[in-house]
Amino acid sequence: MNMQKLIQQILEKKPIADMFRQCNYFQRHGRNYTCCCPFHSEKTPSCVIYPELYLFYCKGCGVGGDVITFLQLTENFSYMDAINLLAQELNLKIAPENFNSKIKLQRDICYAINRETANFYYFNLLRGGDKRGLEYFIKRHLSPRIIKKYGLGFAPDDWHALRNYLSQKGYSDEELILSGVCRKSEKGNIYDNFRNRVIFPIVNPVGNVIGFGGRVLDDSKPKYLNTSDTPVFDKGSNLFSLHFAQNKASDMLILAEGYMDVIAMHQAGFENVVATLGTAITPQQARLIARYTKEVIIAYDSDFAGQNATQKALQHFQAVGLPARVLHIQNAKDPDEFIKNYGSEEFKILIKNAKNAIHFQLDKCKINLDLQTEQGKASMLRRSVQVLAEIENDFVRKNYISKIAGDLEIDFKILESQVNNIIKKQAKNNKKIEFQKIENQLYQKDEMNPLANQYLKESKLEEMLLAYIMLFPENAEIVLKKLLPEDFITDFHRKIYQAVFQIISENFKFMPSFLGYFFDKNQMSRIAGIVINYIEYEFDSEIINHCILHLQNAKNQTVINHINMSDNDLVQVIANKQKHIHWTN
Ligand code: UTP
Ligand code: MN
Repeated sequence: MNMQKLIQQILEKKPIADMFRQCNYFQRHGRNYTCCCPFHSEKTPSCVIYPELYLFYCKGCGVGGDVITFLQLTENFSYMDAINLLAQELNLKIAPENFNSKIKLQRDICYAINRETANFYYFNLLRGGDKRGLEYFIKRHLSPRIIKKYGLGFAPDDWHALRNYLSQKGYSDEELILSGVCRKSEKGNIYDNFRNRVIFPIVNPVGNVIGFGGRVLDDSKPKYLNTSDTPVFDKGSNLFSLHFAQNKASDMLILAEGYMDVIAMHQAGFENVVATLGTAITPQQARLIARYTKEVIIAYDSDFAGQNATQKALQHFQAVGLPARVLHIQNAKDPDEFIKNYGSEEFKILIKNAKNAIHFQLDKCKINLDLQTEQGKASMLRRSVQVLAEIENDFVRKNYISKIAGDLEIDFKILESQVNNIIKKQAKNNKKIEFQKIENQLYQKDEMNPLANQYLKESKLEEMLLAYIMLFPENAEIVLKKLLPEDFITDFHRKIYQAVFQIISENFKFMPSFLGYFFDKNQMSRIAGIVINYIEYEFDSEIINHCILHLQNAKNQTVINHINMSDNDLVQVIANKQKHIHWTN
């Protein structure tokens, strides 16, 4: 059976709306359905499902696609794995060359072993003869309810307890090693990875156990052991407790350093909290967080390492454009200890008083200085001038200059002129870099289709034409005959056009899902957006002809190569473009 037939059968047999029935506010609207988006946190539904097109699209976060994309997004499957899974489930026969389910099988085994393992540790914590794990958690003020909610466990002080248990359940040693719950010694002996440790299962947003963290009961080292990477676990792209936080995080998400901090906060009523998995935060995790929330509060340890990590995290959040504030914990080493000592009401106040990044940097300048002495003031001045010079917004900068001038009891004008000197110096030295930066801001806004911002109008017309031929493939020939792929100006749109062209010329039939073979899940989201955007639009031949003509003419005009432009020309182009660009400070 050919690929497109297979996809068509999958789409027809697996109603896309079924994937969303669990979502909040799932509701029928005429032929379509709406619900709260499972891919970002929201209170009002902005995800729409279009059964006739076999597509969904979230107007809030821009995620979209078909059932195949859905599985790729929720389960991290490859395109072929998702297709194979659906084909198996629907009893569709597929050609052996398409059958690539080894990875899928491996992942299923890992999930199953992890689930059994989590159960084993959990029951061992509660019912095992050795009560030290339970005593430990109780000593740390965890309630039975929270222990159960997080499925916390205890790995017995035994080299083979888990292995014996899972072997009896029929799992092979290879499978136990694959999933990371057991290891193989140099001599070839298989042994349990976690021993004599309390266990924190790590669960992904769809509810699968993907790995574990294990803590010693005393002061021995290493304090924590984490599952190393497996087919279902990647430390850098998951977050602890995201499955609990995901629906509570739309306004604010708290990022903590450790498992215990997260659980203590959750127990105190702050369920919008996650932590990284034993490593510093990665750009991927920063992006993940930005998908779920409008603002992140960094709640790292108050020690030197924690403050350094805060600095790095701030940079990551700035890079993804997510507003961040920093919790200032005093008289406790971390949120867990703070809540234990002062309670949740005080913690609420801490959150309310969390300071923005500039504040955090300026506070850092004061470290180890005695501001009562002249020397201390002079050092503070030198350090803070640097921070102040980096504030881009004039109004904000003036405000902070005035504040620091007040603190140091110096004249506003003097501090301001020092800051301005630095700004001028930097501006001169970095002129080229600055231009580069502005250029990047302009043109890298759309990473998937870089030229789209430069050719706003053309890119819109391209989208309109693409939507038209995808929504009305039976009329596509009119367009396909007149407009060549080369007539498209933006690369991503041209690729879509080429793919549609190819599919229609081979089969005379087209469904947006056929593009899944050519594009990855993020690109499919964008394509779904293009289609869905025009679903209510009333096309007529005049509009279509106008689009075609405009694109044909636009191509004949000289294309400006902004990379090789002189600085002055670049400024001109930027000045013109700025009218269209939404600037953020
Ligand atoms: P912390 O040492 O702050 O631990 O490390 P914690 O979570 O506050 O735990 P308690 O309160 O001492 O029990 C923060 C995080 O760093 C990772 C773990 O993910 C831990 O939760 N870590 C720490 C490791 O992965 N390995 C280590 O040896 C130590
Ligand atoms: Mn701690």
